[in-house]
Amino acid sequence: MRWPRGLDGLCYGGDYNPEQWPEQVWTTDLALMRQARVNLVTVGVFAWSRLEPQPGRYTVDWLDRVLDLLHQGGIKVVLATPTASPPPWFSLAHPDALPVTADGVRLHHGSRDTYCAAAPAYRDAARRIATMLARRYRDHPALAMWHVHNEYGTTCHCGHVAEAFRRWLRDRYGELGRLNEAWTGSFWSQCYSDWAQVTTPRATQYLANPTQVLDFRRFWSDELLAAYVEQRDILRRLTPDVPVTTNYVFGDWVPVDHARWAREVDLVAIDHYPSETDGRAEQQTALAADLARSWSRPAPAPAPAPAPAAAAHGGSGVPARPWLLMESAPGQIHQHADGVSYAKEPGRMLRHSLAHVARGSRGAMFFQWRASRGGAELYHSALVPHAGADSRAFRETVTLGEILARLGDIDAGAVTARAAIGWDAASGWALQHPGLPSRHISYADEVAAAHRALWHCGIVTDFACPAAVPPGAELDLSGYRMLVLPALYLMSDDLAASLGRWVHDGGHLVVSYLSGVADPSARVRLGGYPGALRDLLGVRSEEFLPLGPAGTVALTGGRTGRRWREAVELLGAEAVYDYVDGVLAGRPAVTRRPVGAGAAWYVSTRLDEPGYQELLAVVAAEAGVAPVLPTAPAGVEAVRRVAGESSWLFLFNHGSAQVTVRASGHDLLTGMTASGRVRLAPGGFVVLRQR
Ligand code: GLA
Repeated sequence: MRWPRGLDGLCYGGDYNPEQWPEQVWTTDLALMRQARVNLVTVGVFAWSRLEPQPGRYTVDWLDRVLDLLHQGGIKVVLATPTASPPPWFSLAHPDALPVTADGVRLHHGSRDTYCAAAPAYRDAARRIATMLARRYRDHPALAMWHVHNEYGTTCHCGHVAEAFRRWLRDRYGELGRLNEAWTGSFWSQCYSDWAQVTTPRATQYLANPTQVLDFRRFWSDELLAAYVEQRDILRRLTPDVPVTTNYVFGDWVPVDHARWAREVDLVAIDHYPSETDGRAEQQTALAADLARSWSRPAPAPAPAPAPAAAAHGGSGVPARPWLLMESAPGQIHQHADGVSYAKEPGRMLRHSLAHVARGSRGAMFFQWRASRGGAELYHSALVPHAGADSRAFRETVTLGEILARLGDIDAGAVTARAAIGWDAASGWALQHPGLPSRHISYADEVAAAHRALWHCGIVTDFACPAAVPPGAELDLSGYRMLVLPALYLMSDDLAASLGRWVHDGGHLVVSYLSGVADPSARVRLGGYPGALRDLLGVRSEEFLPLGPAGTVALTGGRTGRRWREAVELLGAEAVYDYVDGVLAGRPAVTRRPVGAGAAWYVSTRLDEPGYQELLAVVAAEAGVAPVLPTAPAGVEAVRRVAGESSWLFLFNHGSAQVTVRASGHDLLTGMTASGRVRLAPGGFVVLRQR
């Protein structure tokens, strides 16, 4: 991981799209950026039609002037390759490079992201424009980093993709018989007798083959990665000193396995737009930041078995490499899922930005600098709103610049977590198949529930990502004392074995329903659920009895379960909570098995929120995992970054009443010293430098 060239300290800025404005506005922009202490802007993300208005005819003089102007103003540039939006001439010249939906409809230009990432013409054009930009700007002093593409995430079902899918499958399976076996082709007469018969999972009569769908998503993540790597390698060759990244987008529709991609970027960069309406934006912010920090950890070394020093690499305790919040919204997102653009209330943008910094982001970047006056996202918020600089929004922009500047050398500080949550994109994809016993289980929601429980306990968590482990290496859990695996559906024998060793050596493992149930080909492991983890957990379930969306089941201890139930039998574990009502009355719902120096817990239903928190607090106490600030009142989030003898304590009051927190240190935002007590207004926050 490398840091943007020529930048020390925290980054502040966002997407800057000067091609949307006359040049007089650029001068105003520069003055306002300086006023707000902006030091980094992302330029050119959607500028392809301005850079290459006709095939091979480049018009870059405007970009020269933009970069020169920014440089004169002391502002660094993340220069984007504009490949997320080819110009209209491109789609007319190469209709075969337009994307095709699963039901065979070819899409047309008129929006963005309208290309097929596997089409040779698209890949050629993308390489050409990346090469042109790298050649032209390789020596420009403003160039700090490359931003390849934008939010890789589109899919396609055209013939180019089908061909590439078949190549990927041949590499994975070698022979067709093995594919038929992995895909359970004998069910519904789906055995292939020639590779040419294999297609992408197109619209079909009834339920699609789950393993075909899963492999397609794995393949497409790899194909998009190959498209990224092609551009990255060109940029690296021409500008070896300039780091290269791309911005990750969140969502269960995203066909990208970010943990796998993390090995290929010089800096993990995320875009984060939490929902403003579900009351969970603060915890979602923490979750996204914890994921980004975890993705940015160096992968463990491949076999031979890691030596103790190398073993520490993937786990916590080792400073994570830098990561960056590349985009977030200063206010309204262009449109929320329910059709309304909800506003972020005053102050929230500051709190969310600092919350990312608290968890390791080296700055706060936004979409976008100046609100567009036309185009599809014209009502998306910006650091400079339609109202101009004389506005509440721009005053907050200036305030954030002042705050970030006061945090000084904070990015020396590392966030250390002793608890982790499992994260596996492929398990999430597999759980989306409608053939599962419940369509109301969402992997993202299961992970978020585990994270939320720990967040409410005041415990900072990392994510442990099996997909980030290179072939031949082992998932490194050595820095953690506690691991929660929510619905980690697909499990290899190797992963199950390494979990067993880690628990035996003192790890405290909490496993939820739908973990370890299937093999990596999404075939059920036989002999009782949860297949791969049965022995370790000391339980065996014969049957799943999912609940309807509104269903509940009473548990002992006054707890309630939702969504899922199982007929659990104890085979070495002891019951912690039992089911109280329904057909499972008297049978175990939550179990614990002591294993060597550690323990393995099984949670066979979705505990109500207080119950989940209580359980994880008990496990954390057993595991010796402490909250960041045990005395923090409810509603106060505490996060610490540490460097040697120094630390920075971030406190956020997410509640609606003023609170007093027991803490001391030098308040970096006011310059005052807090001795023993800090008062936080509703929505207030503080950063204390402590020694
Ligand atoms: C994403 C994109 C931006 C913009 C924002 C709007 O993050 O990268 O171009 O569309 O969403 O929220």
